[in-house]
Amino acid sequence: MEKIIINGPNELYGKIEVHSSKNSILPILSASILAEGKVILKNCPKITDIENMLKILDSLGCEVSFIDGTITIDGQNASKCNISAELSKNLRSSIFMLGSILSRFKYAKIAYPGGCDIGKRPIDLHILGLKKLNAKIIENFDGIECIGENLKGNLVDLSFPSVGATENIMLAAVKAKGDTTILNAASEPEIVDLQNFLNKMGAKISGAGTKKISIVGVAELKGVEYSPISDRIVAGTLLIATAMCGGEVVLNNFNCRHLESLVSILRKSACKVKCKNDKIYIQSKKKLNFLSKIITAPYPGFPTDLQAQIVAAMAVANGVSEVKETIFETRFKYIDELKKMGADITVNGNTATINGVRQLTGAKVFAKDLRGGAALILAGLAAFSKTEVFDIYHIDRGYESIEKMLHRLGADIVRGKIEE
Ligand code: UD1
Repeated sequence: MEKIIINGPNELYGKIEVHSSKNSILPILSASILAEGKVILKNCPKITDIENMLKILDSLGCEVSFIDGTITIDGQNASKCNISAELSKNLRSSIFMLGSILSRFKYAKIAYPGGCDIGKRPIDLHILGLKKLNAKIIENFDGIECIGENLKGNLVDLSFPSVGATENIMLAAVKAKGDTTILNAASEPEIVDLQNFLNKMGAKISGAGTKKISIVGVAELKGVEYSPISDRIVAGTLLIATAMCGGEVVLNNFNCRHLESLVSILRKSACKVKCKNDKIYIQSKKKLNFLSKIITAPYPGFPTDLQAQIVAAMAVANGVSEVKETIFETRFKYIDELKKMGADITVNGNTATINGVRQLTGAKVFAKDLRGGAALILAGLAAFSKTEVFDIYHIDRGYESIEKMLHRLGADIVRGKIEE
């Protein structure tokens, strides 16, 4: 068992590359079983969610390798079409395999997925979409069975722009007969990345990034080499860390347009943020002013995956701030841990009111989920004295060696063993 130990307060200085996006790579890995050839993905981070997805592909019979950031998948000899509970419980994105396994084998069986405990996380929209494409779905006590002998394109109108459901429908429709239109589709940059990847394989998809995605089914998809986009949540976490600790940081290979909502908030709170080509520069003089009320929303709104990190920053900003979480029901679990460090935060329903304090003090705290865990690391960077963050396996699901990233920027942070 491991923990992360931080001695604060820290300021952050330096340049850093942002690794590829977890939330792009996971559906792309799912899509790789549709290729009649090898899929090669560059610059991929060693994080648990990706490793778990590779285990799933391996269990289906794909040849999988992950060496020096390059993933190679050869799914041509894949023969299994079911995912066991043991593998499925490790990550939410196992549900993204439903559409692609169905498309490849005409049949799929998946135990209910796991992932962060941040809310109810139903899968009704995934099921509705697949049914619209002529799949027969049987929901059992232990999982979902799909039969899709004859997948056909159709109009799918989503009642909410779910990221996962949009991706699953794209994966099931890409080789279905005829045309599919997804209305009220999610428009996150990761959806555009999935479209670009599938189109490079030979798919005919357009409209990703808007509310309407059009898919013309094709008979065959080929293997390709692809570089997924950089991770906007990792980039956002590093920007918020610099904003709250003070310092000057450049993030390389990052498309600033993917984080406009955060950048405009940081600019209003007295940080200097400049975007140029594929770089983003931030300078902060430490004490932030948070004037705006933040409401999480589907893209291009403020991402729910940065909600915990921005609350950590608000905990040491001037004045009173407010954050409303509209996407997931129980995404404030980290707040009790922040309070152990001296944060003054009140939660009422889905709204947190944060009364900025002069300083936080180091404490022993426990990560409850991936992004909430990252927020505790940020708080530890800014706090006086020693912070120890436990249960960091949550954080390792989405950040490649977060301590090394921050150490490279000058922070006093290490990973240590927990004595049993
Ligand atoms: C993806 C991201 C996650 C991010 C989330 C929202 C991945 C691997 N994960 O998760 O990091 O926090 O988008 O940006 O890409 N919903 C339903 N029925 C469904 C599906 C979703 O009601 O069938 C609801 C959910 O309960 C939630 C909302 O829709 O309230 C958003 O969920 P969704 O966009 O599907 O998130 P994920 O794809 O799970």
